[in-house]
Amino acid sequence: MNNISQLLKDRVSLRRYEKKAIREEDMEVILNAALSSPTACNQMHYSILRIEDEERKKQIAQLCNQQKFIATAPVVLVFLADQHKWNRYNHLKGVPEYAKAEGIGFHQPDLADLLLAFEDTMIAAHSAVIAAESLGIGSCYIGSTLVNNEELSRLFDLPAYVVPLMVLPMGYYPEHFKRVQTPRFEKRFVVFKETYHNLSDEELEEMFQSREERYFHPIETERAKNFAQSFYKKKTGHPFMTRTTESLEKILAGWHEKWQQLK
Ligand SMILES: Cc1cc2nc3c(=O)[nH]c(=O)nc-3n(C[C@H](O)[C@H](O)[C@H](O)COP(=O)(O)O)c2cc1C
Repeated sequence: MNNISQLLKDRVSLRRYEKKAIREEDMEVILNAALSSPTACNQMHYSILRIEDEERKKQIAQLCNQQKFIATAPVVLVFLADQHKWNRYNHLKGVPEYAKAEGIGFHQPDLADLLLAFEDTMIAAHSAVIAAESLGIGSCYIGSTLVNNEELSRLFDLPAYVVPLMVLPMGYYPEHFKRVQTPRFEKRFVVFKETYHNLSDEELEEMFQSREERYFHPIETERAKNFAQSFYKKKTGHPFMTRTTESLEKILAGWHEKWQQLK
């Protein structure tokens, strides 16, 4: 196994950090790696906030579902999906008038642009994660970035067409930190040759067997009879996911008048 494959295999989400500032030269490597990422048409529809202010980190932690460990990281990077700069530049350079004269019409950022921005942003974030790993700096993606998205946008003074997509606390692995890998589904349930393989009920049972064994512990106060039921209650069906959906509806409504009725 080469170094990169080993690094990818060893990476874990890190939620406890050495109390030590990230060296400036390391931060340069991490940010340059993000900037080297591929993006659609090389448009780079993202921006990155580098947050080190203790009070602001605490506010972020609070808004991201009160995940306190976020504030303990020496640096929190926030990856923003950003169509604001290109849209402003288009207006600055007379693109709406030009497009009208050409008969091709002009539109503000649309759903396809939003999706591209999300894709660009997450690819850049993952380059930062991997570059950080190579320097002994761990990180943890924070999906709850979308829970209180409006409040986060206010905290960062974001203009229109900029969405805080991923909060990424990072810091050096603590000394003697024991990495414990979280098991994955087996490859045969994830990688299919040529066309999709619709798993049989038996194969689905096999796929989830290890999760059932590892994570399902019946407790008297809950009626869940298996892992699927208890996981649904804990995650998929949790009010936190409803709040995330509401946030996304607001993002869409703010993005384009077509989705105003979602608000
Ligand atoms: C999109 C995304 C959102 C995540 N959100 C959170 C989060 O809000 N809080 C957290 O502690 N971990 C979060 N994680 C980390 C996952 O729990 C973790 O990646 C997964 O359990 C596998 O463990 P590993 O990264 O150590 O291999 C997130 C990961 C991803 C990719």
